[in-house]
Amino acid sequence: TLSQIGPDAMLRMILRKPPHERTIDDLEIIYDELLHIKALSHLSSLVKRELAGVLIFEAHPFKGEVLFSQGDEGKSWYIILKGSVQCIIYGKGIVGTLHEGDDFGKLSLVNNSPRTATIVLSEDNTHFLRVDKDDFNRVLRDVEANTVKLKEFGKDVLILDKVPINVKTSDGTYQVCYKYSVMSGTAEKILEYLLETYICINYEEGDTNLDDFLSTYVIFMPINQICATLLAIYKAKPQQRVGENIDLTLREKVKIIRFILEWHDSSKETFFEDSRINVFLNDLHHLIRIDVKVYPQLKEEIKLLESIMESDSEPKETRKSKLPWKQRNSIDKPKMIRPSDEVICKVYCADHTYTTMKMRVDTPASRIIRLAADKLGLRCDQPDDLKLCEVKSTGERLLYKESDLSISYGLSLNGRLFLAPGDHLDALVPLPEQEGPQRGTWQKLEMFGSKELAYAITIHDYELFIAINQHELLYQVFGRYKYGKLTANLDIFMRRFNEIQYWIVTEICLTPSPGKRVQLLRKFIKLASYCKEYRNLNSFFAIVMGLSNIAVSRLSLTWERLPSKIKRMFSEFETLMDPSRNHRVYRSTLTKLTPPTILFMPLLLKDLTFIHEGNKTYLIEGLVNFEKMRMLSHTTRTLKICRSQTLQLQVPQGAKNLSEIQEYIREMNVIDNQRILNQLSNKLEPRQT
Ligand code: CMP
Repeated sequence: TLSQIGPDAMLRMILRKPPHERTIDDLEIIYDELLHIKALSHLSSLVKRELAGVLIFEAHPFKGEVLFSQGDEGKSWYIILKGSVQCIIYGKGIVGTLHEGDDFGKLSLVNNSPRTATIVLSEDNTHFLRVDKDDFNRVLRDVEANTVKLKEFGKDVLILDKVPINVKTSDGTYQVCYKYSVMSGTAEKILEYLLETYICINYEEGDTNLDDFLSTYVIFMPINQICATLLAIYKAKPQQRVGENIDLTLREKVKIIRFILEWHDSSKETFFEDSRINVFLNDLHHLIRIDVKVYPQLKEEIKLLESIMESDSEPKETRKSKLPWKQRNSIDKPKMIRPSDEVICKVYCADHTYTTMKMRVDTPASRIIRLAADKLGLRCDQPDDLKLCEVKSTGERLLYKESDLSISYGLSLNGRLFLAPGDHLDALVPLPEQEGPQRGTWQKLEMFGSKELAYAITIHDYELFIAINQHELLYQVFGRYKYGKLTANLDIFMRRFNEIQYWIVTEICLTPSPGKRVQLLRKFIKLASYCKEYRNLNSFFAIVMGLSNIAVSRLSLTWERLPSKIKRMFSEFETLMDPSRNHRVYRSTLTKLTPPTILFMPLLLKDLTFIHEGNKTYLIEGLVNFEKMRMLSHTTRTLKICRSQTLQLQVPQGAKNLSEIQEYIREMNVIDNQRILNQLSNKLEPRQT
């Protein structure tokens, strides 16, 4: 290797020459040497020839010298020719040693970010080949190895891949730039890398690494681990010996506060849901107040942190709009269900007696069992043997696990909660009321315009839609039981989808007069059309699926009597629902719509499930598969885009009965038992034999 011929004074002399003084022969000699260097072995001979013209030789006599410090601007890339260096990270100390043939220092060059580590010489007389930033970008940036593996204490902790990213430039055009994106890594190192690379520098639009983390961390990094990592960095003391100075320490502290701002910004209303956040912020606040004496610059930062902390202590009342719901046509603050909210819970016994209880939304099944058993006077030889289950309108029973949460919101449309001894579950039958209404509301519906109905449905849907927290989607897909988290807001939205769908079927099946039925069918098709116009694709799909339900679609005598224009309209809707080529028609429709849009939630959940099932969450040795997180985040981003604008619907012109309609659509009574719906349908238009 080069170090063996290191004594070759001639070569060293050539390498020490400023590049422009090198002769053609010099370049040839350097080129021959480059052929033996491990760090360059993957490069083409053309690139090596170019390198020969830009490489600079650098010798350092004494160990302990700091080559550069974490947080510095990245100026050069290095290859070790002889000797070794230590890699030191603020708050962690020496994480590893790099040896002859290794290279380092390209992350900050490519990312245009500060140095992620301090490099200290660990031997006297260490030799490097150095490539400066401009040359690196010109000669190497596009060809240098794509994958970088960072090690700590001998183990891989972060695997990065250089990927092209479209970033928006100041004049609004797009430009390709390269970034080392996270492929996989330990949760802690991923966070550390993002802190170093994306906080306190200009965050380029189009680079989603930080956003990918903030959208998905719930899957792989519990809040207490994030808080502990942040606190450890904040609290770390500088080691003067390795060039960690007051500037670096301040920067590290500021970084932590800025990260919290980003974090808060991305989760907003749900940021304080976990009480550990409050403890963490208080601890941190306390530390900063002490630090302000040494670092006056932290005064500004502490204000930023306080503004976040205050946003939590805001009295809950001021969060809600003062205007009554009916008068509002734009909704600014989502009404979310929080774990601490109260909910009414009705629990039945086998004999249909029941008890009503008020409890927190996050009350686990085990506690509901105990409370209800007490109130219902249910005694059992072994109290453990009492089971909580849902009985659906079809009679189907679903048993709850002791640890299940958010039970009231998870019930199916006409499902009810029952409590019974484990060996008595078979005796549980649904209540008569679970069957749903006996009579339809077609008379009422006759008075309601389809546009007004669509308007009211959309405003209502939108309220539920913006209350969904994107993490709920992940809990739903990854298994909520695993995280002990609520998905109440998502549950309610999905439930609404089913409700609208069954409402359509129920109303058609409960309209005995053929003439009225045709009118109602027509009204529903127009309703779907208005929902689409209002960009409420979720209810649009629910209505079209309701109309495609076998109990409705089989009513051929009714369909026949529809005007052909309406029939055509409906078949167009069916194309939108066409699942072929992965729902291509729907997807392209969605991307063409300007937000706010209420998307078709079941498909979004299906996409996430597909990603989840097709990709491992962890790779070998516990490294988080961050590419999976990126895919998930990319998919949930659709939700973000759809909600990026506030809904501002104009009340339909000459709207009549609006308050009645609004009341109506909030209290729908439906039959959700397909067997009953089929029976009703058969009575309306008996099967032809
Ligand atoms: P850069 O950030 O430009 O400067 C410090 C370099 O240390 C970094 O690029 C990597 O090339 C190198 N390095 C090696 N191991 C690690 C590690 N575990 N964490 C961070 N940087 C590392």
